[in-house]
Amino acid sequence: MKITSARFVTSAVGLDDCPQSDLPEFAFIGRSNVGKSSLLNLLCNQKLLAKVSSKPGHTRLINFFVVNENRCFVDLPGYGYAKAAKSERQRFNDFVADYIEFREGLKHVFVLIDSRHEPMTIDVDHVTWLVERKVAFSLVFTKSDKVKPGRMKTNQKLFLEALSEYTDGEPQIFTTSAKSEDGRLDLLQFIDGLARN
Ligand code: GTP
Ligand code: MG
Repeated sequence: MKITSARFVTSAVGLDDCPQSDLPEFAFIGRSNVGKSSLLNLLCNQKLLAKVSSKPGHTRLINFFVVNENRCFVDLPGYGYAKAAKSERQRFNDFVADYIEFREGLKHVFVLIDSRHEPMTIDVDHVTWLVERKVAFSLVFTKSDKVKPGRMKTNQKLFLEALSEYTDGEPQIFTTSAKSEDGRLDLLQFIDGLARN
């Protein structure tokens, strides 16, 4: 899949506020600071499309981007943001949960996991929430440039093990780096396949 155009459309604060759209939609979720906005920029080949920040909790709204005029990428606010109320930290914001559960046109959710860490309960819990609601998802292990391949493999294996009691079969896994561009083409190809179905 070659990216010929990518443009910001709008931000939303809730499901009712999301734009009307007939396009297949792909959403990116994960812990605050895991690299959602960076991955979106990598996929679209534009450094400044989604706002990236070293300070966690940067993306606070649901941001919509139309890509190649035939699909939509959605940058979601992260979970686990330390300054959010504790009850909010442990789960998706209500409006993000509503978006994931009820948005028509949402084809697939990419859950981003920081490759550097062993499985974190907060990530496993959020993935389990998706499984319970039968949301189609894949795992994307980010920041691969920051971790040795052996450690990456181990962390991925441990994560799948932590999930195994909740899932039948293993979810699809991707490995990416916004820095080295690792994984970009694999992910785009996968999205292309889903968008055509
Ligand atoms: P929130 O919007 O706050 O939830 O964060 P986010 O998940 O959108 O993360 P963002 O893309 O803003 O990136 C957070 C920090 O991690 C920034 O300083 C990025 O430059 C850095 N970062 C993101 N992806 C990578 C990567 O693949 N490699 C490296 N080395 N740094 C990365
Ligand atoms: Mg962000």
